[in-house]
Amino acid sequence: MQRPLAGRNLAFATRTFLPSMDSYSQTPLGPPARAQGNLRDMFDGVSSRYDILNRLLSFGRDLFWREALARRLLAREFPGSFLDLATGSGDQLLAIRARWPHSSLTGLDFSPSMLEVARRKINKAENLADIALVLGDAYATPFPDRSFDSVSISFGLRNLEERPALYREALRLLKPGGRFLVLELFFDSRSWLAPLHRFHLERVTPWLAGRFFYAQGRAYNYLGDSILAFPSPEIIVDELEEAGFKGVERQTYTFQSAMLVWGQKPL
Ligand SMILES: C[S@@+](CC[C@H](N)C(=O)[O-])C[C@H]1O[C@@H](n2cnc3c(N)ncnc32)[C@H](O)[C@@H]1O
Repeated sequence: MQRPLAGRNLAFATRTFLPSMDSYSQTPLGPPARAQGNLRDMFDGVSSRYDILNRLLSFGRDLFWREALARRLLAREFPGSFLDLATGSGDQLLAIRARWPHSSLTGLDFSPSMLEVARRKINKAENLADIALVLGDAYATPFPDRSFDSVSISFGLRNLEERPALYREALRLLKPGGRFLVLELFFDSRSWLAPLHRFHLERVTPWLAGRFFYAQGRAYNYLGDSILAFPSPEIIVDELEEAGFKGVERQTYTFQSAMLVWGQKPL
């Protein structure tokens, strides 16, 4: 088994219920995560340029969408305990901390290199130092039942094809009444801007990805294709209701190019 983090001095999770890096490196990924093939390698390969491409492709709007998610987090008890799944380079964690300065915050991802980028950001500011980063599988996290007031996933659900399995894990992790939030990009074929949006996803995105991720051929088309293939907000609402969430609501942003969907675990 590969030990990807050894020797990198990563300041990983400090809470006692979290596994040590060594125990994680001996823990195989669950079947759905294994079925993601070399997706983890792809994210490892693009980590150093991920943020800049994100910013460019969303015209900087991702910061606004992240703030919208942070505003919708629900803390059933002060100061709130939040988990961000597939947290990648940590920008969603930073947006949450800005909005919820006293919250207990954990980010989990299965890509060591993406987490390394997150760790560098976190180390830059004192008010971020207590954010826990966990190397792990979003389908099978190491946390006990009912650990969090809110669980979020930003631009990550597209990569997790076994969505019902992820919803089950989110339900397990939430305290009763806690909230699950999904921020994601999508393509709305009914929008008047659809032709332009399609051009952006099919032409501009692969071209820009080619400039930034030259060593990661697969990433060129993956980005646009995965957005084109992602279901509408209505379908995500239906899926969350089917999974057992209550009071599911949605909001779309920036000419129907991003969605925020949230729902609560029953009391
Ligand atoms: C598009 S990035 C999004 C990163 C970040 N959430 C953001 O808002 O920018 C998708 C992330 O999902 C992570 N990921 C994909 N499948 C995962 C899984 N099964 N468990 C944990 N992380 C996963 C990847 O490593 C990658 O960092």
